[in-house]
Amino acid sequence: MPEFAKRMEYMAGSAGIIRGLFGAMNDPETISFGGGAPASDALPVEQMRVIADEVLKRETRGVEALQYGPVQGVKQLREAVAEKLLAPKGVPASADDILIVNGGLETMNLLCQVFIDPGDVILCESPTFVHCVEIFEMFQARCVGCLTDEHGIVPEDVEQKIRELHPKMVYVIPTFQNPTGKTLPEDRRQRLAELGSEYDVLILEDDPYRDLRYSGKELKPIKAFDRTGHTVHAGSLSKVFSPGSRLGYVYAEHRIIEKLMDAKTATNSHTSMLPQILCAEFFSRGYFDEHLKKLCVVHKERRDAMMAALEKYMPEDTKWVFPDGGLFTWVELPGGIDTTELLKEAADYKVAYVAGAGFFAGNTGEGKNCMRISYGNVTPEKINVGMQRLGALIRSKL
Ligand SMILES: Cc1ncc(COP(=O)(O)O)c(C=O)c1O
Repeated sequence: MPEFAKRMEYMAGSAGIIRGLFGAMNDPETISFGGGAPASDALPVEQMRVIADEVLKRETRGVEALQYGPVQGVKQLREAVAEKLLAPKGVPASADDILIVNGGLETMNLLCQVFIDPGDVILCESPTFVHCVEIFEMFQARCVGCLTDEHGIVPEDVEQKIRELHPKMVYVIPTFQNPTGKTLPEDRRQRLAELGSEYDVLILEDDPYRDLRYSGKELKPIKAFDRTGHTVHAGSLSKVFSPGSRLGYVYAEHRIIEKLMDAKTATNSHTSMLPQILCAEFFSRGYFDEHLKKLCVVHKERRDAMMAALEKYMPEDTKWVFPDGGLFTWVELPGGIDTTELLKEAADYKVAYVAGAGFFAGNTGEGKNCMRISYGNVTPEKINVGMQRLGALIRSKL
């Protein structure tokens, strides 16, 4: 066989981490706090059955749904994203500056195709979403982690690293961050947008959890503070509609959208028409607002159950993040416990989580005593049982 491309070597570390992350989660008896899925029982299956039945007729939108479509995506869906998801957050976007992509992750991929040359530096949070590190490394970028504190990424450190390393891009998940659940305050959001403009650096704002808020006050996205077009706003419909439909969107300055469309054409022509049209109809028939309310009720109950279980079952000196929304909390264990090692034994206790060390770009050795706990797709009853098991395992090590 011929040699694999160099980029496969470059991304081998992060790819290996991702393969390892989710391996233990297929046992049906195991209560898994691993994956980042929203609640399965809250997916809008009934509404979609009605919509699909009406759409898939020759005299309605059946032909459009099964035919090739526009590169930029179905206009009605772009308009719904602008009106329902961006405008209410203080981001007045035109549908012409939005591109529908094949799941939120495709934005990172296309953006790298458009902006990243081998050796370019990308700054990210420490810890960050490891799937994006994998994408960045596939394009042979060098990912460098920036300092974070209890509020998230520290703009002063970002600025210092911009001066030192001249990065092409800063990758940030400002709201209910993956993996920590932290939310970046508005003054830091504004500062990041300014840094992009001042130093001519792209700020990639990845904000797929923003609409799943259960407490605290709404914050404007970084994009709302962008005056020069340096911020690119990546969104996803996975958490608020359906992850299996693979729908996401990107809102950016039109010059960038045009280049992204060229990259998209060369990659897969356009996002699948059938899910786009079903989702557009979901919005236009007025299902979305009520669905989002329901999602927030269901997930809030789970967040609260998780916070109560942490309080009840974790040993003294354990620290965790109270997330105002989203699907994750980040737990820091006492006593130097290595969560990668602990995960092997967790299989015997029939519980799973994601070990913290994998979320640090460049394998820095940080986060060894940390774990990402996802509560979105676990019922409150199972959260209680699963955390009792995890607590017992951790206590056995102290
Ligand atoms: C931070 C972050 N960005 C992007 C995504 C991509 O979501 P999707 O490709 O499923 O739309 C996820 C999904 O878990 C995520 O956590």
